[in-house]
Amino acid sequence: MDEFKVTPWEVSGKVDYNKLIERFGTKKIDQALLERMRRLTKDLHPYLTRQVFFSHRDLDVVLKKYEDGEKFFLYTGRGPSGGMHMGHLVPLMFTKWLQEKFKVDLYIQITDDEKFLMRDLSLEETHRLAYDNIADIIALGFDPKRTHIFVNTEYAKTLYKIAIKVARNITTSTNKAVFGFTDSSNMGISFFPAMQMAPCFLPKELGKGDMQCLVPAAIDQDDYWRPARDVAAKMGCPKPAQIHSKFFPSLLGMDAKMSSSDPRSSIFLTDTPEEVKKKVMRYAFSGGRDTVEEQRKLGADLEKDISYQWMRFFEEDDRKLKRIGDDYSSGKMLTGEIKTILADRLNAFLKSHQKARGKAKGRTEKFMLRD
Ligand code: TRP
Repeated sequence: MDEFKVTPWEVSGKVDYNKLIERFGTKKIDQALLERMRRLTKDLHPYLTRQVFFSHRDLDVVLKKYEDGEKFFLYTGRGPSGGMHMGHLVPLMFTKWLQEKFKVDLYIQITDDEKFLMRDLSLEETHRLAYDNIADIIALGFDPKRTHIFVNTEYAKTLYKIAIKVARNITTSTNKAVFGFTDSSNMGISFFPAMQMAPCFLPKELGKGDMQCLVPAAIDQDDYWRPARDVAAKMGCPKPAQIHSKFFPSLLGMDAKMSSSDPRSSIFLTDTPEEVKKKVMRYAFSGGRDTVEEQRKLGADLEKDISYQWMRFFEEDDRKLKRIGDDYSSGKMLTGEIKTILADRLNAFLKSHQKARGKAKGRTEKFMLRD
């Protein structure tokens, strides 16, 4: 038995990403694929060069088609179970980059149904959270002409038709084996996977032809895409492709669980500058040494240091990041200093994000898909 678990409902243990590639049957994003991507996008997003997005299925196929003049579309999503935190932005920011580089349509699914079925939340709460989260998503600066957001319970008229076609082709036995449903799972959640697979085939339903889908998402969502690929031919579409990210670490440590119910483990997009500073100073797990003397002599362990690890996600400038890493791991920099750098970086981001979020609230309808 492997010592770690990665499912859409639970991530636990120390994740070995190479083993996950084997377990899920995906492919590593290798140097050749990165170079191929660079030819099309001119520069590479730091999440690619830093292997935050590390695994894929059929990304090569998507790029080949694109080189031959055939467009694809992007699909990603968000489960509105609470307010959003910094980690939730990782796949979204990368998706935005892909959209800008390839100039393609993007569909964003908000699964209020999923969170109603899986969490102790009322439909009113999941609905409110859906629109709260949508404001954060829009605030990232997506292009309203190419970005289409929908909330499952509202867009059901269109989605349901696709979902039942998907569901007809997946047996209960497969569904149980993939998602681990048991006789005591509620029957709503056992149908839900068809709702999350449905957008892989949405443009076809909308009369836009059988474009290929590319899903950027954290690798815990992979369970949905394997059966989606199996039914694609029956849906009259190419198999949806994926590009998978690693998980964003908790503030409390690389192996700690990121939990929305523990406010110490994450920085929320609505946190104040004082809260951010306090959380980083108090809780960001340090890979530095116990005393200043030891730190000066031995330097920090960057692999374990959350401030450094978070900078890998939020400092785009490679040279700056390298300088910080060099100084900190050699002992020239102390933990208090890197924490200050991180808190300032996060606060600079949040200041403009919160402003953009305020403006986004009035622009929601520009993005919504309605039926
Ligand atoms: N199930 C995802 C969550 O809980 C939300 C989601 C729906 C999603 N469709 C998606 C995520 C497509 C990534 C890609 O957050």
